Amino acid sequence: MDKFRIEGGHRLEGTLRVGGAKNAALPEMAACLLTGETIELRNLPRVRDIQTMARLLAHMSVETEGPEGEGESGRVRLRAATISHAEAPYDLVKTMRASVLVLGPLVGRTGYARVSMPGGCAIGARPIDLHLKALERLGAQITTEHGYVEARAKRLRGTRLLFDRITVTGTENVMMAATLAEGETILENAAREPEIADLARLLVAMGAKIEGASTSTIRIQGVPSLHAAEHKVIPDRIAAGTFLVAGAITGGDLLLEGVEPEHLDAVIDKLAECGVEIRREGGGLRVRGGAHAQAANVDTEEYPGFPTDMQAQYMALATQAEGTSIITETIFENRFLHASEMVRMGADISVRGNQAIVRGPTPLTGAAVIASDLRASASLVLAGLAAQGTTIVDRVYHIDRGYERIEEKLRSLGACIERFSA
Ligand code: EPZ
Repeated sequence: MDKFRIEGGHRLEGTLRVGGAKNAALPEMAACLLTGETIELRNLPRVRDIQTMARLLAHMSVETEGPEGEGESGRVRLRAATISHAEAPYDLVKTMRASVLVLGPLVGRTGYARVSMPGGCAIGARPIDLHLKALERLGAQITTEHGYVEARAKRLRGTRLLFDRITVTGTENVMMAATLAEGETILENAAREPEIADLARLLVAMGAKIEGASTSTIRIQGVPSLHAAEHKVIPDRIAAGTFLVAGAITGGDLLLEGVEPEHLDAVIDKLAECGVEIRREGGGLRVRGGAHAQAANVDTEEYPGFPTDMQAQYMALATQAEGTSIITETIFENRFLHASEMVRMGADISVRGNQAIVRGPTPLTGAAVIASDLRASASLVLAGLAAQGTTIVDRVYHIDRGYERIEEKLRSLGACIERFSA
């Protein structure tokens, strides 16, 4: 199993290009199931979850070219001329919950889907009841047996739907299904993440009729069929936010290129409140970390609020900030597993329910730590960059799911980090 060895205390400096967004690319790959023609995605990140989605699509007999290349030349071509098994099997769903994103497109196009029920994961129970309820409202018959969900429908029928709670992949699944439904679907209380607007851009390029993606009311006029399209995936705002914290926590000076600064407003505002200097420069973002950051409280929220996917990385910075930061996690019920690992490195963090109280600054010292999920592993790498001595991060397969060769990128900026197997 791969691990990272990090020698902390090196200031990061230089320029970095941020890759495409995993959480946009995953539903966009699933969208290929809506048509028999070719979908080409560019700026595809070279990360494990993308390979898993490609395997899942290949299992359904989607013709797949790629994923290949990386950075801006990362691309995949997908053609779902026929779908032999409209099924997401347990083996793939258990390694990647986002496999559930094939449910909406499959039932929308073929009238049948069988998807293994995703279980809970390290960060929470993460049910898919809202996806299923919405598909039922569109006329699908849903049954759950032997750990699988089956959805059947002759043709879905558009209707007005209100999500009881904001769900990102739920909004994506239903938006995709509704593109081929009869009549109009109105999604109320829809998620507004930039990844949803990006998916809608791809679907519109495929011939779908969608209005309001990026607002909480999305209107979709069903069409009989969709067609080929090419699409460039938006930059990964969470990877960009992670590198902003890397610059801040090492007192560094980084220029991030290929980012969408407006997708990062809440993160930039929070880091600015901590005293981190961030400014737009030539279409990118420059971050300069200086003296100790100042503590600031954070509540995670749905977009455009502060993202739960940046909470762990922010906690690493809070350990180095002057004063007490109260971090409140409102999206997932168990997303503080990184806190106890940071405490082992010398941080002063107490967790009470959905709040973590971080008192800083405390000097961190390198230690052996275990990554529990994707963003937690990124936060431990950040803590390792700021720590004195050697940090060993175990289970870095989590980080490979969503960050493109993070150790090479950090090394190019002056970090002392290497991957090894043990
Ligand atoms: C997406 O997960 C992201 N994944 C997550 O990224 C991200 O943390 C999350 O949105 C929140 O921003 C992808 O886009 C592939 P939700 P998703 O449905 O869609 C509850 C990362 O690190 N809920 O918006 O699964 C749920 O339990 C990750 O890249 C229900 O109760 O999240 C949670 O508490 C991890 N019933 C809340 O809603 C449902 O049917 C929001 O979850 C669906 C969700």
